[in-house]
Amino acid sequence: MPARVGDFINWGADRFEAEGLCFGHGTDNAWDEALSLVLFALCLPWDSDVSLLQRLLSTDEQSRITSLFDQRINERIPAAYMIGEAWFAGLSFAVDPRVLVPRSPIAELIESGFSPWLKTSPATVLDLCTGSGCIGIACAHYFPKARVVLSDISVDALDVAEQNIQRHQLSERVTTVESDLFVGLCGQRFELIVVNPPYVDAEDIAAMPREFLHEPAVGLASGVDGLDFTRRLISEALDYLTEEGSLIVEVGNSWLALEDAFPTISFLWIDFARGGHGVFLLTAQQLRAHRLSLGLD
Ligand SMILES: C[S@@+](CC[C@H](N)C(=O)[O-])C[C@H]1O[C@@H](n2cnc3c(N)ncnc32)[C@H](O)[C@@H]1O
Repeated sequence: MPARVGDFINWGADRFEAEGLCFGHGTDNAWDEALSLVLFALCLPWDSDVSLLQRLLSTDEQSRITSLFDQRINERIPAAYMIGEAWFAGLSFAVDPRVLVPRSPIAELIESGFSPWLKTSPATVLDLCTGSGCIGIACAHYFPKARVVLSDISVDALDVAEQNIQRHQLSERVTTVESDLFVGLCGQRFELIVVNPPYVDAEDIAAMPREFLHEPAVGLASGVDGLDFTRRLISEALDYLTEEGSLIVEVGNSWLALEDAFPTISFLWIDFARGGHGVFLLTAQQLRAHRLSLGLD
């Protein structure tokens, strides 16, 4: 039966909606998710011309697309994993189930050079909890003189991050370190530490749609209130920041629990034009004051 690309995308999107799929792993709606699988099946780029929607599909192309739609529905695999690619801060990243699909609102901050939050371009950046390397590699792209370290507890994730360093030809300025929090980074200090850590609380983990089960659990869960990692981070980060350094951390829905856990810290919560919440900035001075208030220095 003759069918056009646009018809197939509409049909796929209708099926995705009817099956109650979850989006948010690279796309935020059924139509874009169906479009991404159709482009993948046809080996076409993201920025294909809109006239493509009118193109007739061969029987073979129709069956390739149908089986991708079936797999997306039956196995609930985020399309980004099926395609092996996700976009972040305008850059393409290799992804597979060893890393989270990049989606942090921090992309928006990187694209604007962290304006107005940072007064100068950082010369040294640590992307702690790097996963695919998306945050650190995007920082290296937007700050062309910065030296960037990508670290993660997961050797599997670092393997993907290495692939992405090669993809963006940044191996002269971007390196990887296997590290549980700061353990592997002794003696190093950074002007900017950016972290999208695991921060999902137990209640949200229990309610997660099946799509999230394809992602590494070590990248999502962080104890009952989602703050196991961030508590350690706040107590240790000062020793890895320069005097004037800044720490930027995403905690998502756990931001309220964080405010409760640290009532004496004035977190600066960053607003986003493109959506997203729960990202704070703390300066080294604030972390020093916090440490002093605990009588630790
Ligand atoms: C939410 S994912 C973020 C990945 C990536 N930065 C992004 O934005 O897509 C969190 C990452 O933290 C890593 N991780 C979890 N516990 C860690 C720890 N104790 N030390 C370092 N990395 C850790 C996980 O392996 C995972 O790659």
